Amino acid sequence: MYRLFYMSTARRDLEKAEVNRMLAAAALKNSLMGITGAIGYDGERFAQILEGDKNDVTGLMETIRADNRHSGIVIIAEKTVERRIYEGWGMKHMDSLIFDDFESAMADA
Ligand SMILES: Cc1cc2nc3c(=O)[nH]c(=O)nc-3n(C[C@H](O)[C@H](O)[C@H](O)COP(=O)(O)O)c2cc1C
Repeated sequence: MYRLFYMSTARRDLEKAEVNRMLAAAALKNSLMGITGAIGYDGERFAQILEGDKNDVTGLMETIRADNRHSGIVIIAEKTVERRIYEGWGMKHMDSLIFDDFESAMADA
């Protein structure tokens, strides 16, 4: 099992409605792929954690990296872990972007 945490800068003209649509589609796709995780969006930046098989996580990260709805992608941490934190969540949509929550999630084994 692998867990990866990145942050990025949203495209300036990105609308909340598009973000919501995109995340609904992502949650569904992730569930089918066996990816779980969480994402926060504060109107300017994204913070996202992806969990799953290493190949699936790194493969999805390459897709996400190429998405022009954001830029300045910085991977903050990635590691092999024993278990999922976001079991049952294709992509948990956090209301805010609280860095501490993501950081403590990454500290978990
Ligand atoms: C900040 C951000 C986070 C994303 N997260 C996911 C994700 O967790 N899962 C996913 O499938 N797509 C995610 N996407 C969308 C992908 O970049 C890509 O558009 C999508 O996987 C394409 O799906 P499709 O080939 O089924 O149209 C994200 C995009 C952005 C900008």
